[in-house]
Amino acid sequence: METIRIQGGIPLQGKVRIQGAKNAVLPILAACILLDDISYLRNCPKIADVDAMIELLQCLGCSLQWTSDGLTVDTGHFCCGNLPQKAVRGMRSSVFLWGALLGRCGEFSIEYPGGCVIGNRPVDLHIKALEQMGAKFCQEEGRLYACATHLTGTYIHLPISSVGVTENIILAAVTAEGDTYVDGAAKEPEIVALCDFLNCCGARIEGAGTDWIYISGGRKLYGTEYTIPADRIVAGTYLFATIGTAGKVLLEQAPVSHMESVMQVARNMGASLYVTGNGLYVEGPTRPSPVKLETAPYPGFPTDLQSILLAVETIGDGDSRIKERIFENRFRIVPQLQTMGAKIEIENGMCAGIQGVDGLKGAYLHGEELRGGAALVIAGLMADGESRVDGVSYINRGYENICRDLRELGARVTGE
Ligand code: UD1
Repeated sequence: METIRIQGGIPLQGKVRIQGAKNAVLPILAACILLDDISYLRNCPKIADVDAMIELLQCLGCSLQWTSDGLTVDTGHFCCGNLPQKAVRGMRSSVFLWGALLGRCGEFSIEYPGGCVIGNRPVDLHIKALEQMGAKFCQEEGRLYACATHLTGTYIHLPISSVGVTENIILAAVTAEGDTYVDGAAKEPEIVALCDFLNCCGARIEGAGTDWIYISGGRKLYGTEYTIPADRIVAGTYLFATIGTAGKVLLEQAPVSHMESVMQVARNMGASLYVTGNGLYVEGPTRPSPVKLETAPYPGFPTDLQSILLAVETIGDGDSRIKERIFENRFRIVPQLQTMGAKIEIENGMCAGIQGVDGLKGAYLHGEELRGGAALVIAGLMADGESRVDGVSYINRGYENICRDLRELGARVTGE
């Protein structure tokens, strides 16, 4: 499937089950390298980024098998080796392998990670933190080489909140000698999930979900069974899609306790929200009220939902302002939305001023990255007439099957 074709103008209605979280499962798959055992991950999302991580682990001798409700991961025959350039360059999350590979092999040689075009995405803090634990890095012919004869626990202060760096430190620290303290740790629920998983495997990690994390190193780890939590970003995507189409939707299994800031924004937009026994019921307003907000690390409003909110506010009942504070290139969808009739101005590259219009018209749209691509699909649902969104491979990195989910909600959406 290369293109999604959408007949817009239909309010979403019904219920949709929210898949497992991409950003939780990827570091957990990397963590499996540390085990030398079999683990079982329930509710593992079938997305392209998971397939890419599976391919990387298979290159390292691991055996992974899908079952009806999850993924079995056997790292008993793990062997250190070179990872194929294409698989590493294709995904940002290969960076999580760094801490785990140092822990398991004591060295690695790897391509610089790839990923979306949402910004510069430096790796300086990953390198600095792992160096503090005893790793040495150098570049060889465009590859990054790292070794650590043994990793040592230490005190690490993070100058900015970084999800990936916090996770890499945790992965290295569980195998290190001695204790590690992370000051300024990121607090995202996906970090809590990684620590819960590792603690189930026999690690001792305290403080996950706060900015101070303690890891007791050097404990023997064993395989375990673990349920991947539901994806707060996918839930947020369908929540805003419901608001943008004035729909009524039950988001089954939505992780409401991880969605406080998102739910508050949805309420400010005029949505009625009801937390039910099995998820979140949303009733969109006739037209969304405008918002003024900026993205922030958790528990703030997530950067991953910024472009989706922006797409919905193009038809807001007034002027919105959205400031992006995490990734500098998250506004790449703006010219696409403008072809649909949206009125948006970008100031200093990081702030979007949106003047709500009465409606969008369907257009041929070009998806360039995961969340931006999903935002264009939502814009297509809101627009009059037909839209087509290409670049579906980006959307598939994080959504199991966005066409299936939206069709379940009554949308006229087909993949071609
Ligand atoms: C993770 C998420 C991504 C989300 C992001 C922010 C995964 C797989 N991805 O990405 O969906 O949008 O958190 O919530 O979990 N930075 C540096 N140097 C570094 C590393 C990061 O300056 O070495 C900066 C980044 O440029 C960015 C900020 O730190 O401005 C936060 O990025 P970070 O939290 O590290 O994002 P990721 O872990 O890559």
